[in-house]
Amino acid sequence: MSRPRVFVAGATGYTGRHLVRSCAARGVETVAHVRPDSPRLAEWRRDFAAMDAAVDTTPWERGAMADMLRRRRPTHVFMLVGTTRARGRRAARARRPAETYTSVDYALPHLLIAAATDAAVRDPSVRPVLVYLSGVGAREDTRNAYLRVRGVVERELRESGLPWLAVRPSFITGGDREERRPLERAAAAAIDLLLVPLALLGARRLRARYASLHGAELADGLMRVTLDDGRVGRVVTADELR
Ligand SMILES: NC(=O)c1ccc[n+]([C@@H]2O[C@H](COP(=O)([O-])OP(=O)(O)OC[C@H]3O[C@@H](n4cnc5c(N)ncnc54)[C@H](OP(=O)(O)O)[C@@H]3O)[C@@H](O)[C@H]2O)c1
Repeated sequence: MSRPRVFVAGATGYTGRHLVRSCAARGVETVAHVRPDSPRLAEWRRDFAAMDAAVDTTPWERGAMADMLRRRRPTHVFMLVGTTRARGRRAARARRPAETYTSVDYALPHLLIAAATDAAVRDPSVRPVLVYLSGVGAREDTRNAYLRVRGVVERELRESGLPWLAVRPSFITGGDREERRPLERAAAAAIDLLLVPLALLGARRLRARYASLHGAELADGLMRVTLDDGRVGRVVTADELR
């Protein structure tokens, strides 16, 4: 494999920050994407510079992203963007543009897949591996919007013509997450607890697949399945990330 160069969309999120830190610490050329209108742009520039990562502020527009990918030529594009219902409510209260699973969790990876495809058509030597952080249970035929958009993005990856990986963790938790998310943490803790006796009864694989992952553990797992393993065109479950 050529020398890895990673581009991380969603670099300012919990998983993104861990991934940028881990990749840069390993000496991998790392670009952290920050939305250009981020109110914390100066802070992110400082934090990512301290990690030895570059910052990119290309706007979320298909043409601009395609040009950026042709210029930067990443070997891997990580898609770690997403919103929550709580963030959506905060956006509505502040009269900001709507933030929903459709407008963020679907629309942004969809745009990035299209931009990467455009870049590859213009310059066939640009063929990044698209690494999508999906979720356990992702499928198109469900009324659950969170899982459905993940199922749709996974299909678009398969149809993109580019190398891809869809990574399906269960809960991603950790005391070092900036946002508190008490319900998510409680649900993760309850499931983790339930999986202990099951693992003792022999269902170790079940536990490895469904127990929560800490951000640092997930970042290490992501690097292993992308930069070290190199197999593409497949779904990666959480047991492979531990
Ligand atoms: N949490 C879990 O248990 C879990 C489990 C499985 C899968 N996942 C999925 O894995 C992905 C990463 O999860 P995470 O917990 O690390 O995410 P996170 O901490 O919530 O970070 C979300 C990222 O998405 C960006 N983002 C959100 N809304 C945006 C918008 N309107 N425009 C541009 N960027 C936007 C954020 O940028 P700003 O900082 O600029 O807002 C941030 O970089 C998400 O898709 C999530 O749904 C999560």
